[in-house]
Amino acid sequence: MSQELVAEDLLQKIEDKEYTIGIVGLGYVGLPLMWTFHDAGMPVIGYDIDQEKIDCLHEGRPYIKHLGEKMMKRLAGSDRCDATADFSHLSEADAILMCVPTPLDHHREPDMQYVEKTAMTIGENLREGQLVILESTTYPGTTEELIIPILESKSNLTAGEDFYVAYSPEREDPGNIDFDTGSIPKVVGGHTQEGIELACAMYDTAIVETVPVSDTKTAEAVKITENVFRAVNIALVNELKVVFQEMDINVHEVLDAADTKPFGFMKFVPGPGLGGHCIPIDPFYLTWKAREYEENTRFIELAGEINTSMPQYVVDQTLKALNAHQKPMNGSKVLVIGLAYKPDVDDQRESPSFKIMDLLEEYGAEVSFYDPHIPAIKPTREHPEWTGKESIGWNEEVVSEHDAVIISTNHSDVDYQELAEWSDCIVDSRHEMNGIERKSNIHIWQA
Ligand SMILES: NC(=O)c1ccc[n+]([C@@H]2O[C@H](COP(=O)([O-])OP(=O)(O)OC[C@H]3O[C@@H](n4cnc5c(N)ncnc54)[C@H](O)[C@@H]3O)[C@@H](O)[C@H]2O)c1
Repeated sequence: MSQELVAEDLLQKIEDKEYTIGIVGLGYVGLPLMWTFHDAGMPVIGYDIDQEKIDCLHEGRPYIKHLGEKMMKRLAGSDRCDATADFSHLSEADAILMCVPTPLDHHREPDMQYVEKTAMTIGENLREGQLVILESTTYPGTTEELIIPILESKSNLTAGEDFYVAYSPEREDPGNIDFDTGSIPKVVGGHTQEGIELACAMYDTAIVETVPVSDTKTAEAVKITENVFRAVNIALVNELKVVFQEMDINVHEVLDAADTKPFGFMKFVPGPGLGGHCIPIDPFYLTWKAREYEENTRFIELAGEINTSMPQYVVDQTLKALNAHQKPMNGSKVLVIGLAYKPDVDDQRESPSFKIMDLLEEYGAEVSFYDPHIPAIKPTREHPEWTGKESIGWNEEVVSEHDAVIISTNHSDVDYQELAEWSDCIVDSRHEMNGIERKSNIHIWQA
């Protein structure tokens, strides 16, 4: 078939909603995408190397708490949904979305092994007329410089002629009740004109709006820019928090009042540091790539420095709080509330709570944690020593035996009124105790 006919054939299938979508990597990004396309009426096939996730999808067992059981049951019961760890089935999909991890390695440089392996597997199974889209967050240039050469060399097919390629960053915000995958506009950059047209047509079948940009590297840069913007602004309010604290000014009151300005100000909230798979990591993909052009990313480095210093600040405030109670940190029992990196999710990746617990332990404290979403700590590459540690139970006897309690993540299903009754030494890094009625002898330290 000629190049035009291959593209036209696929476009027709997409417009008729008679195409099958394959999603590689069924984690925090891939699973909601699978649901969104399924919900829009498309047949979906999920692929993952993790057999446990595949079994969960077949059996309707949830493995990402905030997505709920109902969604998993509906996917499991649907004849338009399949999941497999057998990648030879990749040829059954007309469009393939890559949603695999892009972490940093031990040298804080991009760890592209998951993306590379996935591209190899797709390349080995690629057939004429397929559309491949990278959704993982990455440095500008990845699709053209890394993905396409792998796909071409493994398949002996030519991108833009035999198959089509695009990049579209995922903007999913787990736990956000106002926006989900389907209602967040999708930025799309194509390798060729056909690539962008096909990708936009495909997202249009399930997602509220597509925002086409010039090419794949522009789309890659959009995602990095969004996350640099967050990292820098969070660093700014974290710095202001520390300065205003010394001046006895409540940073939250300042930010709330500043937020009444109808233009030129956007409110960010200070906290105990950055967490998750995105904001602490993605900006450094650009830092790494910029070096190739002999450019520095000083803003990113500075924001990283400030944000990574925040757990130490929280622990310093805890030292002061204990001191006020005439207790040394060494030997004190300290409870950390919230292990997940943000409220109401079970994602512990890069959570600043780990760093806080490490520091507390270094100072000789006896550390425990409470997290209603994480009954036991899952294995991590950076903090293997905490693996398997269990959350304490939420009851007065257990909570009140701690000398200090740190609110690191403010899950909404924690009863902070009860906390105020059960503990007299609370270090609050989330401003969660604001408005909570306190006992007369309770001391709440802002951190
Ligand atoms: N988590 C978020 O909120 C979020 C938001 C926007 C963008 N992103 C980006 O999306 C990408 C995926 O993130 P995530 O949070 O969904 O990761 P995740 O770890 O939750 O899921 C990734 C999945 O990919 C699977 N996988 C790994 N290697 C594979 C391979 N070779 N073949 C098939 N499957 C493989 C893993 O088993 C896992 O199930 C990352 O680039 C991330 O930066 C994440």
